[in-house]
Amino acid sequence: MSTSDDFAPATTTSESTTATDPAEILRVDDVTVGYGGVAAVRGLNASVRAGEILTLLGPNGSGKTTSLLAMVGALDLMAGSITALGEPIDKRIERNARRGITLVPDTRGVFHRLSVADNLRLAKRRGGRDIDSVYDYFPKLKTMRTRRCGNLSGGEQQMLALAKALLASPRVLLIDELSLGLSPIAVQDLLPRLRSIADDTQMAVILVEQHIDLALGIADKAIVLHHGRVAVSAPASALRENRDTVEAAYFGRTVESGVA
Ligand SMILES: Nc1ncnc2c1ncn2[C@@H]1O[C@H](COP(=O)(O)OP(=O)(O)OP(=O)(O)O)[C@@H](O)[C@H]1O
Ligand SMILES: [Mg+2]
Repeated sequence: MSTSDDFAPATTTSESTTATDPAEILRVDDVTVGYGGVAAVRGLNASVRAGEILTLLGPNGSGKTTSLLAMVGALDLMAGSITALGEPIDKRIERNARRGITLVPDTRGVFHRLSVADNLRLAKRRGGRDIDSVYDYFPKLKTMRTRRCGNLSGGEQQMLALAKALLASPRVLLIDELSLGLSPIAVQDLLPRLRSIADDTQMAVILVEQHIDLALGIADKAIVLHHGRVAVSAPASALRENRDTVEAAYFGRTVESGVA
């Protein structure tokens, strides 16, 4: 059973790391961000270290995608700060991408008319990982390399989206709804692979997910957003043992102790 110390109230941070922590890859401090001057996310604190997976959970419209977009520098912050690899996040998102901050959008970003191999060739970057090494993570893609992507299953397309992102050797990979439209079986296959890739490459991962149990099963820590605010921020292991806490957070009940 987890103790109350495992859980952070909505208005404070659970982060024990500091800005000088050399393993910290991305850090969000008290960020408020939104659209046209209207806040969609308020008071967000988060951090992720090399090899760690942070999962961002929450109901539709709770601010998950907005948080990811802020972390890659695509939105102007209304308050707070975001630091990646020891520097403030840049407003030029292509510069952040070159520094190893890679977003996999929920639209997957694969070209349906091109083959698997051509999609990978297009994504290949100088100085990045070679294509054979990403086939090692997803051997099924190698057997399908001449197939048009439009003919792949949703799970295979998502593998390709991940493989494309890995070619850039990201330091932090931000993934929006990896499992959108996938069967639970495909998700069960994909998420553990992501865990082993994070372990193997030591890239940090921020994963937005709707499959709560599967996400908590592979993550190190989790944040549940509700109406743009952090309802819970805790180690994933603590939330695995206290699913009621997660349910409560989805309904907007913030957690002051280990029992919701
Ligand atoms: N471009 C935009 N302009 C104005 N408001 C927006 C824009 N994008 C999102 N919002 C609003 O910001 C809030 C958070 O949206 P966001 O897309 O971050 O939620 P989400 O948690 O990713 O939801 P979902 O699970 O449906 O993807 C919502 O109220 C949404 O309507
Ligand atoms: Mg979203």
